[in-house]
Amino acid sequence: MRDAAPQTIYLKDYTPTPYDVAHVALDFTLHPTATRVQSRIAFTRVRAEDLVLNGEDLILKSLRVDGAEVSHEVSETHLTIPAAHLSGAFTLEVEVEISPQTNTALEGLYMSGGMYCTQCEAEGFRKITYMYDRPDVMAPYEVTINADTPVQLSNGNPTAPGCWTDPHPKPTYLFALVAGDLVATTDHFTTMEGREVTLNVYVRPGDEGKTDYAMDALKRSMKWDEDVYGRPYDLDVFNIVAVDDFNMGAMENKGLNIFNSKYVLASPETATDTDYAMIEGIVAHEYFHNWTGNRITCRDWFQLCLKEGLTVYRDQQFSADMRSAPVQRIKDVLQLRARQFREDAGPLAHPVRPEAFVEINNFYTATVYEKGAEVIGMLRTLVGPAAYDAALTLYFDRHDGQACTIEDWIQVFEDSTGRDLSQFKRWYAQAGTPHLTVTDDFKNGEYTLHLKQKTKPSAGQPDKAPQVIPIAMGLIGADGTEVLPTQVVEMSEAELTLRFELDAKPIPSLLRGFSAPVILETEQSEADRLVLLAHDTDPFNRWEASTLLAKSNLMANLTAGSAPATAWLDALTKVITDDTLDPAFRALVLALPSEDNLANACDAAGIVPDPTAIHTARKAVHLAIAQHMGEALPALIAATETPGPYSPAANDAAKRSLRAQLLRLQTRLDGGTMARTAYDAATNMTDQLAAFGCLLSAGDTKVAAAFEAQWRTDRLVMDKWFAMSVAEADPDDTVAVATALTQHADFDWKNPNRFRSVIAGMTAMNPAGFHHPSGAGYRFLADWLLKLDALNPQTTARMSTAFETWRRYDVDRQALIQEQLARIAAHPGLSRDTAEMVGRMRDA
Ligand code: BES
Ligand code: ZN
Repeated sequence: MRDAAPQTIYLKDYTPTPYDVAHVALDFTLHPTATRVQSRIAFTRVRAEDLVLNGEDLILKSLRVDGAEVSHEVSETHLTIPAAHLSGAFTLEVEVEISPQTNTALEGLYMSGGMYCTQCEAEGFRKITYMYDRPDVMAPYEVTINADTPVQLSNGNPTAPGCWTDPHPKPTYLFALVAGDLVATTDHFTTMEGREVTLNVYVRPGDEGKTDYAMDALKRSMKWDEDVYGRPYDLDVFNIVAVDDFNMGAMENKGLNIFNSKYVLASPETATDTDYAMIEGIVAHEYFHNWTGNRITCRDWFQLCLKEGLTVYRDQQFSADMRSAPVQRIKDVLQLRARQFREDAGPLAHPVRPEAFVEINNFYTATVYEKGAEVIGMLRTLVGPAAYDAALTLYFDRHDGQACTIEDWIQVFEDSTGRDLSQFKRWYAQAGTPHLTVTDDFKNGEYTLHLKQKTKPSAGQPDKAPQVIPIAMGLIGADGTEVLPTQVVEMSEAELTLRFELDAKPIPSLLRGFSAPVILETEQSEADRLVLLAHDTDPFNRWEASTLLAKSNLMANLTAGSAPATAWLDALTKVITDDTLDPAFRALVLALPSEDNLANACDAAGIVPDPTAIHTARKAVHLAIAQHMGEALPALIAATETPGPYSPAANDAAKRSLRAQLLRLQTRLDGGTMARTAYDAATNMTDQLAAFGCLLSAGDTKVAAAFEAQWRTDRLVMDKWFAMSVAEADPDDTVAVATALTQHADFDWKNPNRFRSVIAGMTAMNPAGFHHPSGAGYRFLADWLLKLDALNPQTTARMSTAFETWRRYDVDRQALIQEQLARIAAHPGLSRDTAEMVGRMRDA
């Protein structure tokens, strides 16, 4: 074990390096187990201190300063050259040997399916050579790759075969190298400045037919960033490479984005509409980093939300512009609540800008990303769109080429608007989701709203100060007409009272468009919710009303066995059959809250959630909806057909998403007859997978084998097969099914996508199976985490968060989870990554 006592890094300890880097030249001679890396780094001294560079798993072959050998020290993690040898400007030349083939952590230089590739964010460069591996040290790079592979790529512009120059100063984490047998799909883009850019999407031979959509998404992203943010691309080449073994979704390396192949490759037969939308969003996200991340980067990793929160916000804006804005917003909020609210409510809660970490990879979280994006959305709501644009322009002008902080970011808003944003900054510093409690009354022609905000204590933060909450609100009359159109109210104190002169008591429509990431608590009646569902002018709150109705009906079934209210079922049917509404919106209205969401709702209501009972109640309510809509279903399903060739665009995808929901309901009534017809008739993966899920849930015993036989050779489709097989298993059989799948010949557990298919297929997609009272789900997860940890700590640590909600459950389940967490913690040689996560989950 490398770190007997892993170090905690603190934001308050930030210090600039004693040496600047003016230039980096790298020469690679690639070999699976003995790659040689020669570096020539031009340093200039700022302070007379030792030069201490990061480096791990490197075999040092030679070292010279300005051509001369000097004394130095090498440890497991650093290279130190005494200050005495160094002055003014000098060049450090180092040669190291590394072994990409045995690098199973997928950080640094590694091999995937015979190709060489890199992943350097956050701290992977130190496994390539000795360097200041931190984001505030930026330099131009020159790279030479010696290899017998057909393709050799690095950042910047090509100068000769295997030779690349990147003139834009960058930190190590944006370095990338790819070499292998790859084929490119090529296209072109002319920037607003007239620069001709060559665009390539590189994939393995055989996959070249699946790159069109990624390329199309890239061109649309480039255009959008020019149109909306005025940001043109700045190199002559932009390359995307698809890699099968990748810990994350994708990475924004300068001019050479590397993607998990799952987020590049798509054909109608193999990718679902959701896959297409993900590809579009992630291609955009990584491309947008070129300005928000690469040209302006982070001073240190505590500032991660500076690039990630902003870039998520930008990719959400892009997707809203490409598709339906209300549907995009609902999906973003669903995700925020499922991941970020969950995180913020448990032992892993941390501020958008954390103050300490052990392993930075553990802080690429829903809070940094999604709450980080919400904070930017709130800023835009507070200052208005024009002031937001002006602030962004100032940000790009002032900080281009720099490594910045959240203070720099806030400062451009203060300077361009004249507003004092010191209180707003609490959004970056305080963990936990604020609860916004609202009561109202109506007397003598005056309607009063009383608002209170409160945030629960979290680790290290016992008392929270009030935050600035932008509340977009309107008022709706009892007959459904809007009596007050949307206005934004700013709440900055713990309490706020709003008064309106009106003839009758209205129904408040609060937090329109989900204008702040808070938990709204009202005493709204079911009747008022029905009015909002039918009439609210804000589509988000219409959907929100439907979700709240669904939740209360589900909770009533769960706690009292009550049948769903007819008024709700009628209202639901009305929305679903209203063909003036976007089918994607209707599909979202029809989707019941997830089992995890209901477990959270129980917890919030002071009820200990029983995952088995939740599963049963959700099925019962689903059946009741199916029975209520009964006869209408076949016609509704017929109306969602998408004749003609497959198009991944929003219109057809919307119809297919509604169709999938309706087919689920129909399956409850006919046992899978219609799903079988749909399965046999499907000509695209969206329809096929929807029908496949229905058939699995109906207990079809043959469809799994048929699907497998059809798709055996397609890795990405087989990931879906593995995941669905676990997700749809009966809770009592889930662990047995998952265990059998891990013995399948194609279960390559070293591949993060395949590992996640089975393991998260259980933990995230089958909560009743995971939380089985026997504890078998917990043991299964812990077994696999321990196995993967020895090879790939980053993915292991991420997957361990399946345990983060343990406090919600009954004492027996708590004890069973604690037993597994203790077992993991006690494992000899446990990685720093997993140790930190498990430690945080146990302590709290
Ligand atoms: N910079 C990240 C990739 C990354 C994450 C590198 C963690 C190292 C550690 C990239 O820009 C990113 O955020 N990717 C996301 C997808 C995105 C659409 C939110 C991912 O990989 O999940
Ligand atoms: Zn990102």
